[in-house]
Amino acid sequence: MLTEVTSEKKVAPTPTPSKIMQLGMGFWASKVLLTAVKFELFTLLATKPLSTREIKEKLGLGCDDRHVFDWLDTLVSLGFLERTGLLQNSMYSNAEDTGIFLDKNKPSYMGGILEMANNRLYKYWGDLEDGLITGQPQNEAKGTSQGNMVFFEDLYKDQEKLQEFMNAMSGIQTGNFIELANKFDFSKYNQLLDIGGADGWLSIQICLRHPAIRCITFDLPAVEPLAKKKIEAFNLSDRITTCEGDFMKEDLPKADLISMGNILHGMNEEAKQKLIRKVYDVLPENGVFIAIENIIDNERRQNTFGLLMSLNMLIENGDAFDYTLNDFEKWAKAAGFRRTELVPLAGPTSAAVAYK
Ligand SMILES: C[S@@+](CC[C@H](N)C(=O)[O-])C[C@H]1O[C@@H](n2cnc3c(N)ncnc32)[C@H](O)[C@@H]1O
Repeated sequence: MLTEVTSEKKVAPTPTPSKIMQLGMGFWASKVLLTAVKFELFTLLATKPLSTREIKEKLGLGCDDRHVFDWLDTLVSLGFLERTGLLQNSMYSNAEDTGIFLDKNKPSYMGGILEMANNRLYKYWGDLEDGLITGQPQNEAKGTSQGNMVFFEDLYKDQEKLQEFMNAMSGIQTGNFIELANKFDFSKYNQLLDIGGADGWLSIQICLRHPAIRCITFDLPAVEPLAKKKIEAFNLSDRITTCEGDFMKEDLPKADLISMGNILHGMNEEAKQKLIRKVYDVLPENGVFIAIENIIDNERRQNTFGLLMSLNMLIENGDAFDYTLNDFEKWAKAAGFRRTELVPLAGPTSAAVAYK
């Protein structure tokens, strides 16, 4: 006897081009948001709602009113602004998230990374094809034989770019550093060394939450004054010291806990392994190494941001790349570490932890 099967037959969804279009033309929307950050629109609107005429005047926009409406209403349609009225009668204000995260006068401001995305990365990513074809950096170093170090030296010659880079790093890492400070038991350790600690933001977040630990934040000489200033602003100069130098060339200060935020991903495999071995040698027995990065899932299917960050490393450094926990474990065990674990932090970022 024949059985009825048709009722169980699954109908495949009809493919549509909407995702392709949304992403393919995504740079339009991206640039609208980045421009608003650059013009400090969200900082302006944090004080009170404004009309298009007021916004146009305050930002010095010389284009036709029609295009100011288009720009602002795109931000409304994307959920970044709220609006009452229409066209000439409209009043604009911040949406909840832009009011919190993109108002420069709030400590929760995280637009630094978007400022850098607008001022540097947007144009360099325009050359992704060249990066894929040549394997060479597409940033300021494009066409020169400069390596990673020269990239930093060049960037740091310009005080404005240095400050912008520091703000970008803190902006993107704040949520992760707070999450790590809350999740990892720092009370078992006396001394943290944060390698490539930039303006000391990780050390600050840890000290604010763990009263006993002392920290050393290690970075290039140009960065030290900015770190000192920020540490002082948090009244933590007695617990956080700064140390200047090149972590590849110089001896590292002793510590029972060593961290690195977004450092390993800026290197090729050989340099990654060399630095992990150096960290292992400095740590005492039972010491711990923590790498805070956008660790890619082992199957390389889920963490799109981590994969994109790895391509960003192609743009910035050529042969540098982001990695999975399996990769980290391979390098850590080769250096001598006993075991590793993953501590998920905010969004796409995790801490890869290695125990000596
Ligand atoms: C991508 S940033 C990461 C900053 C911070 N750890 C974070 O997670 O936001 C890299 C940092 O490493 C520093 N750096 C790069 N190469 C270095 C070197 N050879 N020696 C010391 N610091 C270095 C840079 O100055 C910069 O502050």
